[in-house]
Amino acid sequence: MTEILEIPKLVTVFGGSGFVGRHVVRALAKRGYRVRVATRRPELAGHVQPLGNVGQIQPVQANIRVPWSINRAVEGAAHVINLVGILYQSGAQTFSTVQQQGARNVAEAAKAAGAKLTHGSAIGADAASASAYARSKALGEQAVLDIVKDAVIVRPSIVFGPEDEFFNRFANMARFSPALPLIGGGTTRFQPVFVGDVAEAIARSVDGQAKGGHIYELGGPNVMTFRELMEQMLEVIDRKRLLVPIPWWAAEIQGAVLGLLPKPLLTRDQVTLLRSDNVVSTEAERSHRTLAGLGIQPESTAAILPSYLWRYRVAGQFTHKSET
Ligand SMILES: NC(=O)c1ccc[n+]([C@@H]2O[C@H](COP(=O)([O-])OP(=O)(O)OC[C@H]3O[C@@H](n4cnc5c(N)ncnc54)[C@H](OP(=O)(O)O)[C@@H]3O)[C@@H](O)[C@H]2O)c1
Repeated sequence: MTEILEIPKLVTVFGGSGFVGRHVVRALAKRGYRVRVATRRPELAGHVQPLGNVGQIQPVQANIRVPWSINRAVEGAAHVINLVGILYQSGAQTFSTVQQQGARNVAEAAKAAGAKLTHGSAIGADAASASAYARSKALGEQAVLDIVKDAVIVRPSIVFGPEDEFFNRFANMARFSPALPLIGGGTTRFQPVFVGDVAEAIARSVDGQAKGGHIYELGGPNVMTFRELMEQMLEVIDRKRLLVPIPWWAAEIQGAVLGLLPKPLLTRDQVTLLRSDNVVSTEAERSHRTLAGLGIQPESTAAILPSYLWRYRVAGQFTHKSET
């Protein structure tokens, strides 16, 4: 009798070359899915191909601001994941065009292709927020759920992992600067979540384990203030630095000035965002729309940070396992 081999499902990941995206691509490849990685610059997405077997991962060109390019990228896909997001606006890449209209464009294409949809948002998404970033994330979520009723939305808190922009940036700053800034005094609370756990949650959504039409909030095991995160990072890299509280008004001015740079380290909108805590809501906890609800036990910063921040320690002070 001839055995009929089933072709693995195709998953299109918009933003699959980004920080979170590449971990999602790896989790999907491990499960045997075929993965199409859709970004504006697929030539820079070469690093995702070795995450799977030969031919399993295919980078394609798409811009979520351009509907025809999205339609081409979702053709034949059983599931679509949107992990495109921006932290600051630049040229045509505005919060509204990328996180609101772009989210809508992807949802419309997924619906037309008959594909399921998992959409990446962020804790803090709020249509009434003073932050344009947070408003666009909320309006993007609304558009997605209006178009694809059974879409799954994932909202992580701040995500950490080897290529993160948060701990790496401050650890690098600590190498050269005697002091680190505590915006607004450093009292804002976060619930950092490991990128591997976020990727696993999204892969479980593709497996059909998440409840369609719902928003999952993804946070790690600990809630920590910005000051506590800086203290933990400095302990890991074994450097003593002054932590200098910056009042909100001064941070606003800094954000306004730095925001004029082409790749700003801080913008005024980010300062606004930092005024609110970034933790999993009690509502999400109560309804089990969390990592625990997906059967995932999250990793802590204490367990993971030493595995990649070791390179910011004073040279010769520490030898990482991989170097021995
Ligand atoms: N990292 C965090 O701490 C964090 C926290 C909460 C929520 N999130 C959310 O999680 C998602 C992923 O974040 P991330 O940190 O992985 O972001 P990232 O590293 O900046 O990656 C963004 C990805 O989107 C692609 N992209 C940007 N503009 C695009 C466009 N117009 N069309 C198509 N692709 C585009 C980029 O590739 P090209 O530039 O080549 O197109 C890249 O692959 C985002 O929705 C973000 O808001 C992240």
